[in-house]
Amino acid sequence: MTQSLAYINNEIVKLEEAKIEALDRGFVFGDGLYEIVAVFVGKFYQLDEHLQRYWNGAQEIMIENAPQPQELKEKAKELLHKSNMKKGIIYFQVTRGAAPRTHHFPAASQPTVFMFAKEASFPDSEKRNKGVKTIIVPDERWKRCHIKSINLLPNCFYKEKARRAGAFEAIQEHDLGITEGTSTNLLAVKDGVIITAPAGPQILNGITRRTVLSLAEEMGVKIEEKFLTREELLNCDEVFITSTINQIIPINQIDNTTSPVNRCDLTFVLQKALEKHIKEYNF
Ligand code: PDD
Repeated sequence: MTQSLAYINNEIVKLEEAKIEALDRGFVFGDGLYEIVAVFVGKFYQLDEHLQRYWNGAQEIMIENAPQPQELKEKAKELLHKSNMKKGIIYFQVTRGAAPRTHHFPAASQPTVFMFAKEASFPDSEKRNKGVKTIIVPDERWKRCHIKSINLLPNCFYKEKARRAGAFEAIQEHDLGITEGTSTNLLAVKDGVIITAPAGPQILNGITRRTVLSLAEEMGVKIEEKFLTREELLNCDEVFITSTINQIIPINQIDNTTSPVNRCDLTFVLQKALEKHIKEYNF
């Protein structure tokens, strides 16, 4: 039986007993980074890729003394081992730490490291087979969306708008075109070509997105990285979202435009390819 355990600043405790200082900059400013890593058969899937993205973010937002990926890896392994979790996720968060409240970065602060293990069964097979409804919303985020910042208010706001519209995800539309979902990447298929927003500051370059693109490339599928316009998106043959937890989910409705999932041939082929990739992963 899995215990809900957390790692907080060098200690493993029950999740409900994990505490941070009120002046932690993560709490006060949203000044920190996070990652969500999948666990299958009691082992991490693509942990190094997630930790590399964390590390790149830590360098870019200048978190001094940010724990090295190797250090986080060892702590995460200990947490996973003690949790005895076979399938689920590990949430990682590193903030700039507690310091007197000033907007500029404090001269010295010790980063806060927080992780928890959560048992989960995913992906959701109904969504995976039948697809989900989405709505289009404006992309109101900052201009460094490639950083997996814990500052997620625009994402949460529009995910809630989607929920209130009876939809699963909100697709964000930037001046440049369609970027991604609020917690997923968006990929579309037109005439056999996969089209997705370019990896760059307008999207979070998802680990799942990258894996799916490389699986598609291995199959000889052409990939085009560009921002689709709303009209182009609505005219695509297939549209799907990707993320660690959702893997690949087809979209069957965008605003009022419906699109039956029985057209989603390539999406289902990629779902199977990803499933195989996970099964054959060198855990
Ligand atoms: N979301 N785009 C955004 C904005 C995301 O927040 C995420 C991940 C992704 C997909 O990234 P990956 O394939 O590496 O999981 C794309 C996580 C899971 C979340 O916030 O719950």
